[in-house]
Amino acid sequence: MSESPTKPEATKPARPRPAAGRNVVRKKVVRKKVVRRKAARRGRKVTRREFPVLAVAWSVFTAAMAMGLTTVGRFLFPNVLTEPPSSFKAGFPDDFAIGVVDTRFKERFQVWIVRDEEKIYALSTICTHLGCTPNWLEAEAKFKCPCHGSGFYASGINFEGPAPRPLERVAVSLAEDGQILIDKSRLFKFEAGQWDDPASFLQLA
Ligand code: FES
Repeated sequence: MSESPTKPEATKPARPRPAAGRNVVRKKVVRKKVVRRKAARRGRKVTRREFPVLAVAWSVFTAAMAMGLTTVGRFLFPNVLTEPPSSFKAGFPDDFAIGVVDTRFKERFQVWIVRDEEKIYALSTICTHLGCTPNWLEAEAKFKCPCHGSGFYASGINFEGPAPRPLERVAVSLAEDGQILIDKSRLFKFEAGQWDDPASFLQLA
């Protein structure tokens, strides 16, 4: 008996497999991309751990800059006292009416200028009780201190309230140009007999 010839089995065509080397290369490329992406992300965002450190560093930097600018500013613009000068010209004697207390120089120079029949004198606006600034009340012809009620006549003599002594007078003279020169650096006290000093008033004719 002869064996019938068997048909050869139909074989599926083998799927071409990618070469192992190509896979490795692809993995490497993907890994590199991931690493690059992470690095880029780190560059843009601050992590939670890094935030406090950066905040402190930024604060220190800002403070240092502010101090530097302040120092430079002080150097460029030093503290200069802008107080009014202690002596000033107040105008000509005829600018002052007899029997009138002139309050024009109260705010800027802290003096009142008074002219009577014979002379011109200047009173300090500092109350002799505790240093407040009285007001001239024209209707009542007196200086009245708003703090504790002391009263002074136009001459500067105290007559009511707790002020223990009269207002002080300041030096008055005539400048070369004929104007009244007030010098606040020289004070004259009534109780010390200094109102008789010729430098404490300007004698008129
Ligand atoms: Fe002027 Fe006291 S300060 S009365």
